[in-house]
Amino acid sequence: MNSSPWWKEATIYQIYPRSFFDSNGDGEGDLPGVTSKLDYVKSLGVDAIWLSPFFTSPNKDGGYDVANPRDVDPRFGNLEDARELITQAHMRDLRVIADIVPNHFSDQHEWFQAALKAKRSSKERERFHFYDANEDGTPPNNWISLFGGPSWTQVEDGQFYLHLFDSSQPDLNWENPEVNADFEKTLRFWIDLGVDGFRIDVAHGLIKEDVLTNHPDPQGLSNALRLDVAMDSEVRNALLLTVPYFDRQGVHEVYRKWRKLFDSYGEREIMAVAEAWVHPPVNATRYVRADELHQVFNFDLLTAEFDANVLFDVVERSISLNATVNALPTWALSNHDSPRVASRIGDEQARALALFVFGLPGSTYVFAGQELGLPDGQLQDSDRQDPTFFRTNGAIKGRDGARVPLPWGGDTIPFGFSTGKPWLPISQSWKDLTVESELADPKSSLHLYKNALELRKEFLVGAGGITWLESPQHGDKNDSLLSYSRGSITVVMNLSDSAQECEADGKLVMVSSGTVDARDGIKVIPARSTAWFLS
Ligand code: NOJ
Repeated sequence: MNSSPWWKEATIYQIYPRSFFDSNGDGEGDLPGVTSKLDYVKSLGVDAIWLSPFFTSPNKDGGYDVANPRDVDPRFGNLEDARELITQAHMRDLRVIADIVPNHFSDQHEWFQAALKAKRSSKERERFHFYDANEDGTPPNNWISLFGGPSWTQVEDGQFYLHLFDSSQPDLNWENPEVNADFEKTLRFWIDLGVDGFRIDVAHGLIKEDVLTNHPDPQGLSNALRLDVAMDSEVRNALLLTVPYFDRQGVHEVYRKWRKLFDSYGEREIMAVAEAWVHPPVNATRYVRADELHQVFNFDLLTAEFDANVLFDVVERSISLNATVNALPTWALSNHDSPRVASRIGDEQARALALFVFGLPGSTYVFAGQELGLPDGQLQDSDRQDPTFFRTNGAIKGRDGARVPLPWGGDTIPFGFSTGKPWLPISQSWKDLTVESELADPKSSLHLYKNALELRKEFLVGAGGITWLESPQHGDKNDSLLSYSRGSITVVMNLSDSAQECEADGKLVMVSSGTVDARDGIKVIPARSTAWFLS
C-alpha cells in the first residue's frame, strides 16, 4: 500500500546532526556524516529525514539560535555538503525536512547587531520587540523565559528586548512585513536547494499580542511549557490555558501565506509540520486546516504515562480532533527536547508503545537512537551544555541527556561516532546498544523497528481508520489491554506486569518482547508487550 501525498502516513526519522555521525574527527556530528549513514537510515524503512538546525549559529541553543538562516554552520560543513546530502537522500527515495526557526534569531544575526547599534523606535529595532523599562526600571512585564530567568534583557540605552528562550535568542516582530519577506526568502532558498518540507520551530509563537501584561504565575507557566519538567497533568493543563504569548490568531495568517508558497511548487508536494504546543488540544487542529500547514506535532505521547486510560484518551482524541479538519495525526515518543522514551517509561514499555503507535493512522516520527532503545545519557553537570541548565542555576538539568551521540559499533567509547572526543560523553554501558551489536541480535530493538516499519508499509499505510477492540470505553473486557484493528492487522498491547489473555484473530506476525502463547483461539500476550496479528 502507499499513501499520497508522500508525507501523509510517512515515517520520519529525526536526526540531530551534531549527535549523529562525525566525519572529520572534531567530536561533533556533521552533514557529510549524515550523508555517509544514509544507507543505514534507508535500511530502517523510513520515508524521510528531519534534520534539526544546521544553519550558521553560535550554538547557544543547539543551533535553534540562527545567525544566518540561509547558510550552513562550518561545524556542520557547507552549502555544498547540504546539497550533496539532499541529492544522496533523494537517490535513496528519502525526503528531507529542514528545521526552520521563525520565532527568533540569534543575537549574532546581522539584524540584531544592527538593532543594538540603532536608536529607539528605529526600523532596526522594529524587527524585534524592544520596549522601554517600567518607571521603576523593571522589565516591561514579569514573563519568565522557557529556559528560566526573565524573558527580557536590557541593552545599553535602557530598553529591554523580549526573548521567550535564551537571551541570545531575541524574538522577532512578525507584525513587521520585513520579517515575513525575509522568511519567505529563506523558505524558497531551501526549497530551491532541494528540501521537501519544513519542521517549523515554535510555530505557535510568532505573534505576541499582550506584551505589556503580567502573568499571575510566570514561573509555573514556564515550567508547564517544558517537556522535560514533570508536572501533574491537571496543573499543567490549567497553566497552559493561560499562556499570553502563544497561539494568537495572527499566526494562522502567516501559515496561509506560506501554504500558498508551498503549493506554488506543485508536484514537489512541499510539506510543513508545526511545532505548536497549544492548549486546549482542539486548537492544534487550526494549524492543519486545508489552507494552512500539513501536519502538527502531537506532543502528548512525550509525557503520557504507560497507562491504558491515558493512552486511549491521547490516541482517540488525536484521531478524532484531526478528523474534524480532514487531517491525520502525528505520533512521537521521543525528540531532542524530552527524555528518551526508554528512560521515561522503561525498555519493554518503550518497545510496546512503539509497536502500538506504528499501527496507527498518520505520520510517525522516530528520534535517531530511539530505534536502538537508547536511554538518556548520564551526564555530570560539568558536561552539560543546555542553556536551561545555566539559566536555572542547575535546578533544571536540561535536555542534553537525549542528545548524547549515537553509538555505531565496536567495543569501546565512542563506539565509532567519532575519531575524536565526542561533544557529550557516551557511556561504556552502551556497548550492547550499538548499531553493530543490535544488527547481530535478532531480538534487538533495532530489528523490532525494522520489522515493524516494513510490515507497517506493507499492511497499514493507507489502510484507513482503526476500530477499538479493547479499551477503557470499547469492549471493556480487560483494563490491562488496549487493542485495535486496522486493515488486516490487529494490534494488542498488554500494559500490565503479568501475561494477559485475549481473543485476537489472525496469526502472530510480531511481538515487542517475550513470547505469545496461542491455544484454542485464545492468545496470551506477555507483560508490557504489544503483539501484531495478521488475518
Ligand atoms: C523548540 C526546539 O525544539 C528547542 O530545541 C528549542 O530550544 C526551542 N524551540 C527554541 O528554539
